[in-house]
Amino acid sequence: MPAILTTKELSKRFGGVWAVDHANIEIEPRQVRSIIGPNGAGKTTLINIITGRLPATTGAVLYQGKDITKKPSHERVKMGICRTFQINSIFLGLSVFENIRIAKQAQRGGSLKIFSSKKSLKEVNEETWSILETIGMKDKAQIAARNLAHGDQRLLELGIALAGKPNILFLDEPTAGMSKAETDRVAELITDLAKDIAVVLVEHDMDVVMAISDKITVLYQGSVIAEGDPEAIKQNEMVREAYLGREE
Ligand SMILES: Nc1ncnc2c1ncn2[C@@H]1O[C@H](COP(=O)(O)OP(=O)(O)OP(=O)(O)O)[C@@H](O)[C@H]1O
Ligand SMILES: [Mg+2]
Repeated sequence: MPAILTTKELSKRFGGVWAVDHANIEIEPRQVRSIIGPNGAGKTTLINIITGRLPATTGAVLYQGKDITKKPSHERVKMGICRTFQINSIFLGLSVFENIRIAKQAQRGGSLKIFSSKKSLKEVNEETWSILETIGMKDKAQIAARNLAHGDQRLLELGIALAGKPNILFLDEPTAGMSKAETDRVAELITDLAKDIAVVLVEHDMDVVMAISDKITVLYQGSVIAEGDPEAIKQNEMVREAYLGREE
C-alpha cells in the first residue's frame, strides 16, 4: 500500500540539539502508527514539523506524493492533516457542542455566510452530533467544557480534531492523565478511526501501544532506531536497552 505521508531526512535543530535527526518515516493509510521513545526523544517536535507548527531545519514532508514541507499548518489541515495537542486547546467557556460546531464551521470554510444558509447550518449541526456520537459525548453536549472531567476534555479535543475531517490524525499523548476506563475508551476509538484514516499516536502507555498499533516507530535522541510491529519492537534489543528496558 503506498504511503499517505512520508518524511525524507526530516530534521529539526534547536541550538546545538538535533531534536529530530534525519528521520525517514512512511505512514500507510488506515493504520495505527505509534511513535514511542523516552522523554525528549523528539516525538512532539516530529509531529510539530509534520503538521506545520514548526519549520523543518532540513528534509521534506510528502503527503499523498506532494511536497508540503513549506505549507502553512492551516493549509495542511485543509488537506486532511489534523492533530490534537499535548496541551488542551479547547474553549473552556463554551459547551461541548459549541466547541465542535465551531471547529466544524472552520473546516467548512469558516465563512460567516454559513449563517445565512439554513441548509448548511443544519448540516453543520448534524455533523457535530455525529462527531459527538463517535466520541461518546452526546449526553454531555450542553456542558461547558470547563466543567468536564479531565478525560472528557481530552476526548473533546479529539472531537475537535475530527471536525477537521482528517485523512491522517496525529494524537500527542491522548490518554495522558486518564483513568484506565477512559484510556480503554480512547484506545477503542483509535482502533475504530483507523478503519478509515491513518492515526499517528504518541503514547507513553505501552499496554495501549502494544495492543492497538499496526506498526511502531521508536525515536531516540531524534533518530529512528527501530520500526516494526509490536512483537518485533518488544523483541528488539536496541529498543529494550534504549527505552523499554528502563521500565522492567
Ligand atoms: N521550542 C524548543 N526550543 C528549544 N528546544 C526544544 C524546543 N522544543 C523541544 N526542544 C528540545 O527538543 C528535544 C525534543 O523534545 P520533544 O518535546 O520533541 O520530545 P518528546 O519526545 O515529545 O518528549 P516528551 O515525551 O517528554 O513529550 C528535547 O531536547 C527538547 O528539550
Ligand atoms: Mg512530547
